[in-house]
Amino acid sequence: MLFTSVFSCLLLLSPGGALARASPRENPFNKRVSYTNVADFDTFETPIALAGLYANIGPDGAKSQGAKAGVVIASPSTSDPDYLYTWTRDASLVFKYIVDRFTSGRDSSLRTKIDNFVGHVGRIQQVTNPSGTVSTGGLGEPKFMISEAAFTGEWGRPQRDGPALRATTLIAYANWLRANSNTTHVQNVLWPIISLDLNYVSNNWNSTTFDLWEEVSGASFFTTAAQHRALREGIALATALGAPSSTITAWTTQAQNLLCFLQTYWSPESGFIVANVDPINGAIRSGKDANTVLTTIHTFDPAAGCDSSTFQPCSDKALANLKVYVDSFRSIYPINYGIASNAAVATGRYPEDVYYGGNPWYLTTFAVAEQLYRALQVWDAEGKGIEVTSISLPFFQQFNSSATVTTIPAGSASYTTLTNAIKTFADGFALKGAQFVPSSGALAEQYARNDGTPVSAVDLTWSYASVLTMFDAHDRLAVDSWGAAGLTVPTTCSSGDGKSATVIFKETATTIWGENIYLVGNIEALKNWNTNNPIGPLSTTTYPVWTTLVSIPANTHFEYKFIRKFNGTVTWESGANRWNATGAAGTRLTLNNVWK
Ligand code: NOJ
Ligand code: NOJ
Repeated sequence: MLFTSVFSCLLLLSPGGALARASPRENPFNKRVSYTNVADFDTFETPIALAGLYANIGPDGAKSQGAKAGVVIASPSTSDPDYLYTWTRDASLVFKYIVDRFTSGRDSSLRTKIDNFVGHVGRIQQVTNPSGTVSTGGLGEPKFMISEAAFTGEWGRPQRDGPALRATTLIAYANWLRANSNTTHVQNVLWPIISLDLNYVSNNWNSTTFDLWEEVSGASFFTTAAQHRALREGIALATALGAPSSTITAWTTQAQNLLCFLQTYWSPESGFIVANVDPINGAIRSGKDANTVLTTIHTFDPAAGCDSSTFQPCSDKALANLKVYVDSFRSIYPINYGIASNAAVATGRYPEDVYYGGNPWYLTTFAVAEQLYRALQVWDAEGKGIEVTSISLPFFQQFNSSATVTTIPAGSASYTTLTNAIKTFADGFALKGAQFVPSSGALAEQYARNDGTPVSAVDLTWSYASVLTMFDAHDRLAVDSWGAAGLTVPTTCSSGDGKSATVIFKETATTIWGENIYLVGNIEALKNWNTNNPIGPLSTTTYPVWTTLVSIPANTHFEYKFIRKFNGTVTWESGANRWNATGAAGTRLTLNNVWK
């Protein structure tokens, strides 16, 4: 068979005793390749994924004609969906892999690509776009044309994970340059770019953002965690470069605020990380989301052990969360039906997803394996045994129904049994994704919930990066620490600016076409009753409930009313003014009203 012979060639070329491994077999029913172990999938897929990455990077990538030097296209797909743009998030995650591959000495030829990326970032930061100029918010713009022109269509903007992820990637390169006697280049070229992004993070982390899926406007766990990480490693770099102490102090203050805020996503009642604070859609989504699993792998710090305040892969919170996330897909995807409740399944962005019909994604399925591989790596490396807490107990009971809250000693028979079971579980997710990879090895964005055929954008660059980082985790490759070890969450934590509370106003009102609902009140934050400049129109996502979110000074009494506007005519609600009062800084208040 043609395929088998192609594979044999790869086997011969691959290092590390690959010949001893079982060969994959062609599956005659769906023309996919079935793998009996992850090493075989790795041997087959790695060269394809690397080629897939490089094809999507300008100026000379085979599938990215027209892309400027250093531009990562999201996918060569130009319609249904059109992904021939560059997204800051995708590009930064892709280049983080490339930088790690370079700095770990695996491929010294990558330096040109990395320098191209640095040049690209320096240029794109200066491009004025619908989010603003370089100094008025433009750094939060999520995507650009591959020519580096602004994208001016409607979009979910800003997305504030972008500058943080970009800084993390450039800091990894900067640290390598410093270790290799090129601090001057860091000072002159990288630092101006990195510090622009980090000042943006420091100044804006507390403002509304769209989430990584570009759908929810509010606060997002992935974004907060990425911002926290970027500032921490930025502080270390700033210190090493002798940056002004005012910068270091400001970033340290905000890093502490971010660490505080990060804790608020954990729901003790539900036992998982609620991915988004979504004031508009509120309870419509469960909050179970791959956002959280991606966070554990992209903020993994091998020096931080199983720290739960930074949600490390082996922390009790991240493990409990992983189980809840995975289980949310067991009964909704037909390809998962009939699979044992403790075995690997296909996973997607979030269970309520409807994008392209709402399917499993390669990069989310591989992320589950990656988190588990990193957890196993830390347990083995630290040799402190495995601590089962009341929070992580449901996770561990998947492998041993009589598990209890205890520490399982390293080296004990139960440690071996348990870690073997978790390894099998982890491999299951890698092989689950592999099961639905076509025989070409190409990775699209999604695979169909009914039969696993590829769906949506072809050759998604981020999909290729995700399988490569998963293989690195499988192989327990070293990862740089970013400073997650030994942090202390401040005891008084306000999730806001320390001065304001958040008030969510909801008004149930049926309206006629062209008519809108607005909000005014007696304080500046509520526009001092000015009907020419009211808050609104309120969001209609949950019509007939109109919603908005307003930041109001803490411990403040306020009065308000809703108004209707139709063809310029203002109609006030009847009766007395409505009133309420905010609590302490960082608290949230939801006000449900009905038009009167
Ligand atoms: C395009 C975005 O990229 C995707 O994340 C989203 O799900 C769809 N628009 C639908 O909002
Ligand atoms: C849609 C995804 O939801 C988003 O995260 C990604 O940045 C874009 N597609 C581009 O790949």
